[in-house]
Amino acid sequence: MPTTALVAPSPSVARVPGWPWSHLLRMRNDPLALMAEGARLGTDVVRLSFGTIPAYVLYAPEVVHRALVPGDTVWKGTRGSKLLRRILGPGLLTTEALVWRDRRRRAQGRFRHEALLAMPGIVQRHADRMIADWRGADPAGPAEVDAMAGFSRLALSVVCEVLFGIDPGEDAARVHAALDEVLAGFLWMMTFPIEGVDQWPLPASRRHRAAVEELRAVVQRLIARRREAGPLEGDLLADWIRAADEGALSQEDLSAEVVTMLLAGHETTANAMSFTLALLATHPEEQDKVRAGLDAGDNGPLERAFNEGLRLYPPAWVLARAASGEVDLGPTVAPKGSFLFIPIAAIHRDPRWWTDPDTFRPDRHLALSPAARAAFFPFGTGPRRCIGEHFARTEARIALAGVLRAFEVTTERVPDAMPTVTLRPRGPVRLTLRPRPAPAA
Ligand code: HEM
Repeated sequence: MPTTALVAPSPSVARVPGWPWSHLLRMRNDPLALMAEGARLGTDVVRLSFGTIPAYVLYAPEVVHRALVPGDTVWKGTRGSKLLRRILGPGLLTTEALVWRDRRRRAQGRFRHEALLAMPGIVQRHADRMIADWRGADPAGPAEVDAMAGFSRLALSVVCEVLFGIDPGEDAARVHAALDEVLAGFLWMMTFPIEGVDQWPLPASRRHRAAVEELRAVVQRLIARRREAGPLEGDLLADWIRAADEGALSQEDLSAEVVTMLLAGHETTANAMSFTLALLATHPEEQDKVRAGLDAGDNGPLERAFNEGLRLYPPAWVLARAASGEVDLGPTVAPKGSFLFIPIAAIHRDPRWWTDPDTFRPDRHLALSPAARAAFFPFGTGPRRCIGEHFARTEARIALAGVLRAFEVTTERVPDAMPTVTLRPRGPVRLTLRPRPAPAA
């Protein structure tokens, strides 16, 4: 019997070819291609070379479940998570264990359906403003717009009004500029061979730190504005400020919670709305279906189009964890300290779970197979899953419906996706809008 059979790697854990460290480099240059290449190996778990750190990419929903759902064998201890924590501070997204549990409990109630009953009206008002803006000087003629810019402004205003009880005013533009700077450098900093390059005296690191400082300064102004706005009740920011005044949260914690919610709560949703609208703009027959549904009072086609946008362009394109003990993944046991990556974008297009995976076909969500249902998790899974799913879905439904009722939307192509912390459109999302006649009264 050939002895190699005894030492051959388990067929259920393949390796992406490459020399030590090469995958870190590829994570910087084209991480979506690296994750897709791993998926093509067809195994449930794939091993990467990150120098001395064992790294695994989990492709099968069952394996993802084993890693994320118990929640006590993994933590957010990868280089990317640590960099994110230096940017956001110790907030809901980046804290662990008991501290995280306390933060989640404090915020949870404000995201329940009952707590968000006023939200549709607020989103509608901001969407109407955006649509009026988009109509521009000639309300009857076609308009060229950057959908991402419009949706980003809308989403930031909605987070500020619904969760913070204030209007971001002129600070909105500052948040967007600082966020662009932070996200542009993120992948480069995360994959730099030596950790902590964001703290070095390099021009790019200085710009990054200045952007982080700008975000913190904006947050201090938002907190001050909320204090002036009236009694500290009725919204999440008011809850946090009261907790800080009572000594239950430090000033650093308060600032971290606000920065986290400001960023996590608007950029993801703006990306998802932009990609969905661009997909509808390149698929007129699907756009007509969505509009026919809206005219008949049926949001189903729109919701399916949004799900399909989230499948093809999931804003949280990869989740990352470090193993705090051994993690039994099924096909293999990841040792303590290993990095685990869950490439949502690749799983959402894996032909093992999806037919015609690259095709925009909203109606597939009418009857997903059990395998596809398990392989669709744009909002994550396990205890750290997104707190804002209902918030995001409510916002997208109302804003997209408003735009599609007002305009026929066309564009030549869906923009390329740029993976940073989130998957965002690379550059503006240019769309052509042709006004539709107002519905008969
Ligand atoms: C389409 C929009 C959105 C997508 C695709 C999305 C996706 C996700 C995902 C996948 C996670 C889990 C991250 C992980 O496991 O490492 C997450 C966490 C989180 N999201 Fe969202 N999100 C969206 C919108 C929102 C909104 C609107 C808010 C708030 C207003 C929000 C706030 C958060 C927070 C605070 C966490 C951390 C939760 C925790 O660790 O307890 N997200 N999101």
